Order: sequence, then structure tokens, then C-alpha cells
Amino acid sequence: MKKLKIADGIHMLTMNVKDILFEGIWKIANGVTLNSYIVQGEKTAIIDGVIGWDGVPETLYRNLEEIGVEPQNIDYLIVNHMEPDHSGWISNFRKIKDDFKIVCTDKAARILASFYGEDKIKIVKEGDTLDLGKGKILSFHPVPNVHWPDTMYTYEKGTKTLFSCDMFGAFGRMGEHCFDDELTPEEIDFFEVEGIRYFSNVMATFTPSLKKAVEKAKTMEINIIAPGHGPVYRKNPQKIIDDYVRFSQYADGAGKNEVTILWGSMYGMTAKAVDCVEKILQREGVKYNKLEMPLESESTMVASVFKSAGIIIAAPTYEYKLFPPVAAALNELGRKKITGKAAFRLGSFGWSGGAEKELHEIMERNRMNWDFVESVEFEGAPKEEDLNKVEAGVLKLLEKMKEKIVE
Ligand SMILES: Cc1cc2nc3c(=O)[nH]c(=O)nc-3n(C[C@H](O)[C@H](O)[C@H](O)COP(=O)(O)O)c2cc1C
Ligand SMILES: [Fe+2]
Ligand SMILES: [Fe+2]
Repeated sequence: MKKLKIADGIHMLTMNVKDILFEGIWKIANGVTLNSYIVQGEKTAIIDGVIGWDGVPETLYRNLEEIGVEPQNIDYLIVNHMEPDHSGWISNFRKIKDDFKIVCTDKAARILASFYGEDKIKIVKEGDTLDLGKGKILSFHPVPNVHWPDTMYTYEKGTKTLFSCDMFGAFGRMGEHCFDDELTPEEIDFFEVEGIRYFSNVMATFTPSLKKAVEKAKTMEINIIAPGHGPVYRKNPQKIIDDYVRFSQYADGAGKNEVTILWGSMYGMTAKAVDCVEKILQREGVKYNKLEMPLESESTMVASVFKSAGIIIAAPTYEYKLFPPVAAALNELGRKKITGKAAFRLGSFGWSGGAEKELHEIMERNRMNWDFVESVEFEGAPKEEDLNKVEAGVLKLLEKMKEKIVE
């Protein structure tokens, strides 16, 4: 756990977490940070305390003491969002100090009661304030369904700091550099990738609510954005706001000038056509990501499709339906509400087909509204005429993609 001063009377505690499945699902290759903030006036508040998955609150207490905060002197625990990555230490904290007050939305209060039996709660609504003394005044601004229904922003007026919790967050461990102005160009690229991974894996389902949260942030005067995961933005908080606007567009079908080939093949027939697709994309100078299912992690698959303006689905028929690992991937993308992508499917069949029918069922069931170029199916190995059709399909897709590119 690391300690950093954000402004006079405001500190950040941050810890790197790795080798976990985030939400029990996502294999986050580069880990994640959990950030907690301490605001000191005459009274002391801690915003989104963290102990993470190590289950050792003593690490938190020791770090608090090192910045001059006795855990026993914490008056308020601000719970911006009840998810246990931010609140998992509450019951332990009650054991060492019984009279701190939790500040949260009404929805968080209900969840806190059900998870931890908490009842010493001050419920806040839009615009309510908490004066900590010494010029530190916190105000609270619900942003429902930014991940969970209970979420709110906390804003510190004196320093114009927005404590945004899951909003404006990113995956990826932080090394020495935790502020935007310290990041090297490589670290900026790293957090672009990890920001997309985070948004697509965890937040994309809630895109309409995230758009509202962006609008709310735009109405605030902000000098610093201090999220619950990832770097703190003090030089240019507008950057992460703009990034989130762009990521919301990716969820609605826009993307970078890249193609993701989502493919699988049992005996190499569909794979032959994928080879042909690759040659065309190379010839056309288009960047592409080739993801073989089921070998790729769900996390990388969702992030790659999410950020690409064009998707090529290459999968055969299996037991009257679409090759299951690719069908499962598409269902996952549907659950994440990744809609409106420009797409093209190709694949082999041996008997009477069926993959194409299931593809459309998946699209309809999840209301994905992907914009498809006409599919190319072939019996057994692809023949020259099939590969010609594949080439025509890829070129049509590249044309369709053009209007979707946002970088
Ligand atoms: C387990 C299994 C199930 C299959 N199910 C079907 C099917 O339901 N309908 C069909 O037309 N072909 C079916 N086939 C045939 C494949 O679609 C065909 O072999 C195709 O060329 C496989 O392409 P691939 O080598 O890219 O996997 C099946 C093949 C296997 C091995
Ligand atoms: Fe969350
Ligand atoms: Fe979180």
C-alpha cells in the first residue's frame, strides 16, 4: 500500500492487486489498483476504504497512522459505492471503533444493512454537504448505476476534487507514477489499454448511466479527479472525461480503426479462410487483433471487440449451431450491451449448416443491432470462389467501418 498527498489535508492510499479474478470472472492480466482517500478537517473522513482481497485491514490502519491518522479518530466513512472492493473492511473496522458514521445513498444503506448489518448510517441526497471543519466541505452527488445502483460522487469544494469511485477508473497496476502529469508516454498507452479493458469488462453494461455521470461531472468545477481504481488526474482531468465519452461511443458501435477477428475452428477448414482474411487485412494496411476462441480470456476478448470498429466472426457449424466458444463470446458481448458494430461472418459447415441461424438468434435476443455484411458459408474446405467471396466481404466491411471510426 502506498501513501500520497493529493492536496493539503487530502491523502490517497493505493494498493496493487494481482492474481485475482475481478468480480470472480475477469482475468485481469495487469492487475488493478484500489484507491482510498482520507480528508482531514477538524473531523476526519475516509472515502472508500480498501483492504482488497488480502483481507488484512491492519495494513490500512498502519498506513493511516503513518499519515497521522489514528483509525480510532476517523469520524466518517464515505461509501461512494458498496461493492466489497471498496467496503469489504467495514465489519473489521467496527471491531476497533464502534461509533464512526457511514455516509452513503439510501440504496447503499439498504445494501450495507443486508451485507454487513450496518445501521449507523447518514443517508445523503443530491447536493447534501458535510462540513469537516478547516475549510473541508464535502458534497454528495448520486450517479446511480455507475456499476451498482447505489453509487455517488463525493466532491470536496475547497480543492475542487471529485472522488469518483468506479467512474473514471482503469485496470492496471500503478508503479511509481500515480498522477497523470507523472505518467510516461508508455504508461499513458498502458492506461488507455487498461481503461478500455476496465470499461468494457466491468462498466459497459451501464453505458447509459455512465453517460449521465459524465454529464453530471461536466456541470462541476473540477481540478482533480480521484477515482477508486487507476491514476489520479490533476493536470488534465478533462482527459479522462473525454476518454469516457469515447469509450461510451465504443459501446454503441464506434471503435478504433482496427478489426478484431473472433474465430474458432475444429479441423482447420474455417482457419483456411481466416488465413485469407489476414492476408487481405495486411494488404490493405489495416490493424487487426486475431482472437482464437476458446483460448483467449474473456477479458481480452471483450476489450478487443469493444474497441474495434470492425468485427470478423469466423466460426463453423457445430451440432446444428454456431461453434460454441464463439457463440459464448457473442453472448457475453451481448450481455455487455456492445451494440451496433460493423461485422462480417464466415464459416465452414459439413452437413446442412445452422451456425448462421444461431448467430442471428444471439444478435436478436441481446438486441445487439450489429450491422452485418452478407455472410459467407462454405461446405468443407473453402474453394477459390469462396475465398473470392470472403475477400469481397472483408472489403465491404472495411468500407462500412469507415463511418464508425473514433480514436
Ligand atoms: C462435433 C461436430 C459437430 C458438427 N455439427 C455440424 C452440424 O450440426 N451441421 C453441419 O452442417 N456440420 C456440422 N459439423 C461439420 C463441420 O461444420 C465441418 O466439419 C466444418 O468443416 C468444420 O469446420 P472447421 O474445420 O473450421 O471446424 C460438425 C462437426 C463436428 C466435429
Ligand atoms: Fe464497482
Ligand atoms: Fe470498484
